[in-house]
Amino acid sequence: MLDHFGREIDYLRISITDRCNLRCIYCMPEDGVPDIQHTDILSYEEIVRIVRQAAALGIRHLRVTGGEPMARRGCLDLVRMLHDIPGIETISMTTNGLLLDGRIREACEAGLNGVNLSLDALDPDLYRSITRGGDVEKALRVLDEAQKFGMSVKINVVPVRGVNEQELPKLAELAKNSPVSIRFIELMPLGCGASLQPIPTEEIRRKMEEAFGSMEEDRKRRGYGPAYYLRPEGFQGSIGFISPLSHEFCGRCNRVRLTADGLLKLCLNHTSGVDLRALIRNGADDLLLRETLRTAIERKPERHGFNEPVEDRESRHMNEIGG
Ligand code: GTP
Ligand code: 5AD
Ligand code: SF4
Repeated sequence: MLDHFGREIDYLRISITDRCNLRCIYCMPEDGVPDIQHTDILSYEEIVRIVRQAAALGIRHLRVTGGEPMARRGCLDLVRMLHDIPGIETISMTTNGLLLDGRIREACEAGLNGVNLSLDALDPDLYRSITRGGDVEKALRVLDEAQKFGMSVKINVVPVRGVNEQELPKLAELAKNSPVSIRFIELMPLGCGASLQPIPTEEIRRKMEEAFGSMEEDRKRRGYGPAYYLRPEGFQGSIGFISPLSHEFCGRCNRVRLTADGLLKLCLNHTSGVDLRALIRNGADDLLLRETLRTAIERKPERHGFNEPVEDRESRHMNEIGG
C-alpha cells in the first residue's frame, strides 16, 4: 500500500526480542537494558495474526530482528509460521549469527531466505572487544554454512572511528572470492551509538578505491533495503553502503517496524506508532486490526530527521528497535 507521500510500503521488520547474547558497543550498554516482561512481548501467534493482516495490505517482505532474534526460543518455528502466510514472498533475518552455528539447514528448511550477519572485525580479539565477548570463529562458520546452503548473505559492518578502521579493507576482501555483500553502515546516533564517532561513507568509499581500484555500480537486486552497491574489478561479491546521515534515503523508504512489545513503529527515529498489543488484547477483530494498520502506515513520517529537531525523537537503544 501507499503512504501519504506516495511511498510503497511492502516490508515489515519484526523485532521478536530485545535480548541479545552479545553487547556490541554501539548498540547495547555493557550491563544490558532492563528486559521487557515476558507477558509484555507479543506471542508468536499474535505476531502471525498481525502479519496476516499486514500481508493483506501489501506487505511482501519480512525481516526478523532482535536484539538477537535467535535468542528467543522457537525463533525458527516463527519463521515456519510466517512462511505459510499468503502473500509473503521473502523472509530474512538480521543476526549476529552465533546462535545459528550448526542450525543453518534447519533455518533454510523453515523458510528463511537470507541472513544479514553483523560482523565488525575479523581479528578475534577486536571482535571480542566490540561485541563484549563474541567468538569470531563461530560467526565465520555460520557465514560459510549459509553460503553453502545458497542463502542470500550480507555482512553488516558499522565502522566506528578509532575502533575498527583498520579492519575495513580486510572485511571488504571477503567479497573478493565469494558472492557475498559487505555493507558499511553509517553509525546512527541512537542509544549507545550517540557517544561514538561515525566514519562518513565518502571516506570509506575513498579507502576502498585506494585498496581495490575503481568500482562499478552493481545494479543486481540485493534485498529490499536502503543500501547501494559497488563492485571492484575482479570481485565476485560487492561492497554496499547504507548512509542514513550522508545520503538520506527516506524518500524511497518502503518499511515499517513491529517492536517486540507490539508497537507498530512507523520510522526508526520516531516514537510515534500504534500499540497493536493493546488493540488485539482488547479483543479487536481482524477487520479493525487491518484498518488500524492501514491508517497508521498512511501517516508514516516523511524522514528520520537525525540532523534536525524531531518532536518524537526515539530515545531507545537499537536492540529495543531491531535496527
Ligand atoms: P536488506 O537490504 O533487504 O537486506 O535489508 P536492510 O539492509 O534494511 O536490513 P538490516 O537489518 O541488515 O539493516 C542494515 C542497517 O540498515 C541497520 O543498521 C539498520 O538500522 C539500517 N536501516 C534499515 N532500515 C532503515 C531505515 O528505514 N532507516 C534507517 N535510518 N536505517 C535503516
Ligand atoms: N547505527 C547503525 N547501525 C547499527 N546497528 C546497531 N546499532 C547501530 C547504530 N547505532 C546495526 C547492527 C546490525 C543492524 C541491525 O543494525 O550492526 O547489523
Ligand atoms: Fe546484539 Fe546486534 Fe546489538 Fe550486537 S548489534 S548487541 S549483536 S542486537
